[in-house]
Amino acid sequence: MGQSFQEQLGLALILLLLSLGAAVTGDNSHNCYGAPGLPGMPGMPGKDGRDGLKGAKGEPGIPAVSAAQGPKGMKGEPGSPGWPGKTGPFGPPGPRGDPGMMGTIGAPGVPGSYKQKHQSAFSVTRQTGVYPQKNVPVVFNHVITNTNNDYNTTTGKFTCKLPGLYYFVFHTSQTANLCVLLYKNTAKTASFCDHKTNNMQISSGGILLHLDAGHQVWLTVNDYNGMVGIHSSDSIFSGFLLFPD
Ligand SMILES: *[C@@H]1O[C@H](CO)[C@@H](O)[C@H](O)[C@H]1NC(C)=O
Repeated sequence: MGQSFQEQLGLALILLLLSLGAAVTGDNSHNCYGAPGLPGMPGMPGKDGRDGLKGAKGEPGIPAVSAAQGPKGMKGEPGSPGWPGKTGPFGPPGPRGDPGMMGTIGAPGVPGSYKQKHQSAFSVTRQTGVYPQKNVPVVFNHVITNTNNDYNTTTGKFTCKLPGLYYFVFHTSQTANLCVLLYKNTAKTASFCDHKTNNMQISSGGILLHLDAGHQVWLTVNDYNGMVGIHSSDSIFSGFLLFPD
């Protein structure tokens, strides 16, 4: 470039000398010399100059705003599994399962209690206005109480199943003379007779008897058979085991 600069300087000097010559000739025109020549053609543009010096350092830029976020990063690796969660609430009951297998036979139970094994008690009434037949068991046909059916409402007889001491008692309503006889098997054990002196009378009698299993007890009447069981006038026969053997 230095060579080029010197070439440019030289060209500039040539142009200056030419213009001076023109001025000399111009001055000569007043002295009747020929007309001045036309200005010369513009010279060729000069070559580019050398690069300038490096510029001064610029002012610091505007600080970046802290809130400004950079571009979204790449997806990270999955984290390690967390702790097990809390136990949830109970779910609804499931469907009923199949029946299980049949179990083995259990051990024999404990012997029954005194109450369960040794019970015998009855109260029966005779509900009819017709007098009973004589010398046959009087049938009390209506059951109030009759454990184990020890009293038979068809035969009119009590049959002992549990040996022991029994109490028997009757209360009869009568509209005529009446004799009540209590039999233990074929033996007449007690008799209660009452002549009728009122429109309606009550007779009663009771007895304690020891019975063995199979023994029977019943009531009969004889010619005096005015026993009834009508409205408000019952005839009732009762018995129960007092002490078992
Ligand atoms: C009552 O006695 C009759 C005749 O012996 C018998 O057929 C019947 O089964 C007896 N009833 C009961 C409950 O024992």
